[in-house]
Amino acid sequence: MSTQLLPVADGPAVYIIHDNPEWIAPFAQALERLGVDYVEWLLPEAQIDLTAEPPQGLFWSRLSASAHTRTDSHVKEYGRAVLAWLEAAGRTVINASHVYELEVSKVRQHQELVAHGFDAPRTSAVFGGTGLAAAAQDFTPPFITKHNQGGKGLGVRRFDSHAELDAAAGDFAPGGSSEPIDGITLVQEYLQPAQPFITRAEFIGGRLHYAVRVDVSAGSFELCPADACAVPGTSASAVDPFTRREEITAQTPLVGRLETLLSQLGIDIAGIEFIETLDGRQVVYDINTNTNYNPSVEDTERGAGRIAAADRIAEFLKGELAEAVPGTEAFTQSH
Ligand SMILES: Nc1ncnc2c1ncn2[C@@H]1O[C@H](COP(=O)(O)OP(=O)(O)OP(=O)(O)O)[C@@H](O)[C@H]1O
Ligand SMILES: [Mg+2]
Repeated sequence: MSTQLLPVADGPAVYIIHDNPEWIAPFAQALERLGVDYVEWLLPEAQIDLTAEPPQGLFWSRLSASAHTRTDSHVKEYGRAVLAWLEAAGRTVINASHVYELEVSKVRQHQELVAHGFDAPRTSAVFGGTGLAAAAQDFTPPFITKHNQGGKGLGVRRFDSHAELDAAAGDFAPGGSSEPIDGITLVQEYLQPAQPFITRAEFIGGRLHYAVRVDVSAGSFELCPADACAVPGTSASAVDPFTRREEITAQTPLVGRLETLLSQLGIDIAGIEFIETLDGRQVVYDINTNTNYNPSVEDTERGAGRIAAADRIAEFLKGELAEAVPGTEAFTQSH
């Protein structure tokens, strides 16, 4: 692959900035169905001319925290550069740079959640490769580890004793099998679910679209995140662990509070995960800003005559494009 200038459409378009082609198809199809032009800006292997104006359009960042596991370790910096260029030129970016900074830092996510009054898991951030076992001494087992720059469950492991972590701590050190890309490993209290599932509430345009229950019963603590990231056809599990939680609605108190959080943080599209614990807490532990909606849930929604999340995203982007570039409506209709 050669480095090339990012492609530009003939007219106003939605530009999808991302780092994984495998995740884009459902959105591309939904935009096509609405007759909205879109252009993919795939990182890395691209260049931008800083003296040039970005094209007219709406820009949607789907940059992920886990790009370094697929391409190169600097994608976070490429993403920051592209978003800075767009924002300096006054372009409208959905899930802009401040959202990307949240996506790539569970420390920041934790701080925002706590600052907005949510119950978040007790967490320590360990810098570098030597302090993990010592930091864990302050936690009563079981506790878990995870990478600060996570996504797809990077570094998520449960430890049932300090001795177990002592033996594994080297994995998180430089050169280890689970070295965090930004050098930060989190130690976190283990949240015991009252029932064996976590909930992921999906928000589009800042409003709840649906909540999904993800089964974690099959001793699949470490596999669950991989499932959560699985692309169609790649899931190894026979029974789909994802189902819609119908009882979670816009009227659910936690949902209302999460919508307020997203509005205050300027986040349009997010999947927020929480666990209802055995001891009656509702603990929010993860803010994702580039969900790959579960295919079977999406199919079920369509089958029930409801709007799939990918289609709702397309509608939302179409509306935002019309606002960002007046006259777009006429363009998409005649096109
Ligand atoms: N503190 C916790 N207590 C219990 N289970 C947890 C805790 N933190 C994470 N998990 C489990 O591990 C999964 C992955 O953790 P988390 O969402 O923080 O990582 P991630 O890298 O963002 O993964 P993903 O990209 O799948 O969201 C969670 O969905 C949940 O099942
Ligand atoms: Mg998660």
